[in-house]
Amino acid sequence: MNSFLWVIVTTLFLLAAWFAWQYYDLKRRMNDYSSLIRNQPNNLPTDLKGFENLSNAIASLQTTFNLQLSTSDSKNVRLSTVLEQLTDGVIIADANGLIQFANPAAQKLFEIPNALGHSVTEVVRNHQLVDAWRLCQQTSEMQSESVELPARHQFLQLIAIPDAHASGSLLLVQDLTRVRKLENVRRDFISNVSHELRTPLASLKALTETLQDGALADPDAGPRFLGRISTEVDALTQMAQELLDLSRIESGQVELILAPLAPKSLITSAADRMKMQAERAGLKLSIKCEDALQNVRADKSRLEQVLVNLIHNAVKFTKPGGDIVLEAGTALFGKSGSGGVRFAVRDTGVGIPAESLSRIFERFYRMDKSRTGSGTGLGLSISKHIVEAHGGKIWAESRVGLGSVFYFEIPVVMT
Ligand SMILES: Nc1ncnc2c1ncn2[C@@H]1O[C@H](COP(=O)(O)OP(=O)(O)O)[C@@H](O)[C@H]1O
Ligand SMILES: [Mg+2]
Repeated sequence: MNSFLWVIVTTLFLLAAWFAWQYYDLKRRMNDYSSLIRNQPNNLPTDLKGFENLSNAIASLQTTFNLQLSTSDSKNVRLSTVLEQLTDGVIIADANGLIQFANPAAQKLFEIPNALGHSVTEVVRNHQLVDAWRLCQQTSEMQSESVELPARHQFLQLIAIPDAHASGSLLLVQDLTRVRKLENVRRDFISNVSHELRTPLASLKALTETLQDGALADPDAGPRFLGRISTEVDALTQMAQELLDLSRIESGQVELILAPLAPKSLITSAADRMKMQAERAGLKLSIKCEDALQNVRADKSRLEQVLVNLIHNAVKFTKPGGDIVLEAGTALFGKSGSGGVRFAVRDTGVGIPAESLSRIFERFYRMDKSRTGSGTGLGLSISKHIVEAHGGKIWAESRVGLGSVFYFEIPVVMT
């Protein structure tokens, strides 16, 4: 009996020891696994003895988590690229108006290199825009405001959107300077066109009324008035043609047919076309062309149109007895110093005062409308477009009373 009890006690003891060992081993492996998870989360065993299910579940959880993490990482990268490249400014301000985020465009628009931590008032520096932001904070409603900042030559629009979560606000800033400028140009253009149309139309009306009132029967006045009507109609036709040219060129509808062109042949054919007109005005038209000039890459008829416009002006603004010289010579062109040809139309005419020199290439610009007679002020602006479409540039130099020189440069054909 005693030995039986002894066997039972021993067995129980052995069993207890076995369980204790199992427990200890289990705990040790669990600790090892935990430190693995902590130290090498990317390299977890899935065959942990006795815990296969658990380690598998942890591993698959980890895969899902990693996947979500990388998706959210790439979303973050995409979002920050968008914010960085955006030309509109984006600012996030907290409830106290301190800036938590500002993209590069916002910092550029407000000319503040590091806006973080500054207040909206410090960065925006315009009371109307700041008021719009304040109103948005107070009412929790979206506000929008546009202002012109003459000191910075900017026209900005600000949209303040309340941020419901952080009780701060999101500010979107758009630079509408260019849009505004285009709107002004369009408005000016329409008012210029209508103004330019009004004068010849009023004079046509007056002439026809005079004819109706009896001048038609007058053998002397009748033909004279008809002649003036014809001149006015010609001017209107020329203006319509120039407007059409300008609008086609500006909207990129005119396709240049570029081909190698010898500078000498270009100035010769332009001079031939204008010779008669110059002679009739009592002017001498001559050519001066450097030898062995390289060919330019040009649309012959368009470039000839530029030269004709310039010669036409020279004829118009030079008194009889004067000289007009067409020149072509080598020019170093562009930043790279690659080759080009410089064309020039030189006259001994009335000249252009310095303050007008920068403006004569604008549409409709005429220095002295009463003196220039016929002309719409579109010729030089058309010429400028054509030269620039060739990758060239055009400018003028002049001295009042002595004459003017109009230059333009065109790149040569690359060999
Ligand atoms: N060679 C020149 N000499 C003096 N003034 C000139 C000359 N060329 C152009 N201008 C000035 O520039 C203005 C604009 O020229 P342009 O655009 O050709 O228009 P338009 O010939 O129809 O007047 C002219 O009205 C004139 O005031
Ligand atoms: Mg002209």
